[in-house]
Amino acid sequence: MLEQIQETASFIKERMHTTPETAVILGSGLGKLVGEMTDTYEIEYKEIPHFPVSTVEGHSGRLIFGRLGNKDIIAMQGRFHYYEGYSMKEVTFPVRVMHELGIKTLFVSNAAGGTNPTFEIGDLMIITDHINFFPEHPLRGKNISYGPRFPDMSEAYDHSLIARAKEIAEAKGITVREGVYIGTQGPTYETPSEYRMFARWGADAVGMSTVPEVIVANHCGMKVFGISVITDLGVEGKIVEVSHEDVQKAADAAQPRMTTIMREMIQ
Ligand code: HPA
Repeated sequence: MLEQIQETASFIKERMHTTPETAVILGSGLGKLVGEMTDTYEIEYKEIPHFPVSTVEGHSGRLIFGRLGNKDIIAMQGRFHYYEGYSMKEVTFPVRVMHELGIKTLFVSNAAGGTNPTFEIGDLMIITDHINFFPEHPLRGKNISYGPRFPDMSEAYDHSLIARAKEIAEAKGITVREGVYIGTQGPTYETPSEYRMFARWGADAVGMSTVPEVIVANHCGMKVFGISVITDLGVEGKIVEVSHEDVQKAADAAQPRMTTIMREMIQ
């Protein structure tokens, strides 16, 4: 496992001519941040040894290197989802590779269903914490020496980055919510009873990604910041049929606001 990670990292390093310490994983329909990058160069996932290839509609799989403002970054356009059939090791492989590449701070975005009754479609939610409801743990198995066998998760989402995001949002006049993201395997959206259960557990939003990558990033000692775009509502009385297209559309509408916060944070 470690050998594969290092092989992949050295393949990428040979093609890198910047030294990013920040990486961004962009969720469904949230890839526009890439359009604000300058001096970009790319590597397609399919060219990278040991890298899984993204299959789901609306995700184009590539690593994009370049600058955002004055910062060198890596953007991962398209992530690997557990529901696609990848193992947790595969889902989180790119995060470990990023650690080998020198990444210290990870920004993540996703589309999520709101379970908090005060939320509206199109809201941005700063992720303050998560609940891991995936059936397999990404750190299960032999411990990789990047971090301890039993990693602390008391601040999975860095408090100072959250504080900074709130300052930025206020300065830019962007309304943000805060809340807990529960990660579930999908690929079904939730039944009304499941949404209700997640709300009672303390979740404000539910989605099918992010948690595995954030756990592994923490294990590697990275600081993490995450935003969910609320694309549909799992709230009693507001639950309607939801499709991938609706989710993409809502994500697209909220993208400019999310992109502003991410860009300012990274800069
Ligand atoms: N549930 C799970 N994943 C999601 C949802 C949802 O309601 N919306 C976007 N991703």
